[in-house]
Amino acid sequence: MKKKMKRIGVLTSGGDAPGMNAAIRSVVRSAIYYKMEAMGIFKGYDGLINEDMKILDHRSVSNIINRGGTILKTDRSDKFRTVEGRRRAYEAVKKNNIDGLVLIGGDGTYLGGKIFNKEWGVPCIGVPGSIDNDINGTDFTIGSDTAVNTALEAIDKIRDTATSMERIFVVEVMGRSSGYIAINAALGGGAEDVLIPERKFDMKELCQDIVEGNLRGKVSWIVITAEGVAKAVDVAETITKTTSLETRVVTLGHIQRGGSPTAKDRILATRLGSEAVNLLRNCSDAKAVGVIGNKINIVGLGSAVTKKSADVNSLYRLIKMLT
Ligand code: F6P
Repeated sequence: MKKKMKRIGVLTSGGDAPGMNAAIRSVVRSAIYYKMEAMGIFKGYDGLINEDMKILDHRSVSNIINRGGTILKTDRSDKFRTVEGRRRAYEAVKKNNIDGLVLIGGDGTYLGGKIFNKEWGVPCIGVPGSIDNDINGTDFTIGSDTAVNTALEAIDKIRDTATSMERIFVVEVMGRSSGYIAINAALGGGAEDVLIPERKFDMKELCQDIVEGNLRGKVSWIVITAEGVAKAVDVAETITKTTSLETRVVTLGHIQRGGSPTAKDRILATRLGSEAVNLLRNCSDAKAVGVIGNKINIVGLGSAVTKKSADVNSLYRLIKMLT
């Protein structure tokens, strides 16, 4: 018979995302509800290797549901990528009587958990926390809604000055290999064009659109680029060179990772955190929790890591149709 879980560990790893705190709160309080202890592990996998951890009680997660960042801190661990690092992590798991882990993070976090479970058999449940919304097996990752809203708020402000001074703005948003923030901020912010990693882009066509629009009397544009495709300054330089129109550049950067989570992210984090604990109680392998069509969805941790196929073409067509 499977041994009853008495103590679970929880960590956040990789880039922080708004809503991670709401997930931690849900994990800790759900563990207590199921009569287990929750060990908070600090700074991601490095904290596991270094035994930087402490038991979190009910009160220790009070008043964090609305806070951005992560009270457990986070990191991208180089040591955990090595066999020796993972061996040390396993020693720490054993020594601290941790029966299973809840891993809140993105694809790097999931991949680490998948390998760790395969090598050492520690049950691992992934909770998708990333602004990039690039995890399989879930419609949304925790933090992606807040990040899009943060980008939108900035784009609305940029629009005011773009219209007033009749300029072209190129706005760079986050997303090294994911265009989720870019395409959704473009759609929600009424941008004229968007460059994303999932779609081949034609700069000549963009410049031609701008010239033709200008001949028709259009005087301001907002073009969004995901950081992984092209730097805003390069896009702006090409536009100015080709069209002779004035451009300005805004790079939104890490403000997209901060701030109080939206209602959608808090609710998602709270549901998934609790579901992860419930799943871990009877789990001996590696799984991930998510939502598909607003229903809880459970997949293998490995399959959650494989690249998510995003249907960007219909969204892109809509952006261009309404320009
Ligand atoms: O966490 C995801 C992410 O914010 C990506 O959108 C971005 O490309 C990357 O992290 C930035 O990483 P760092 O914080 O290390 O600069």
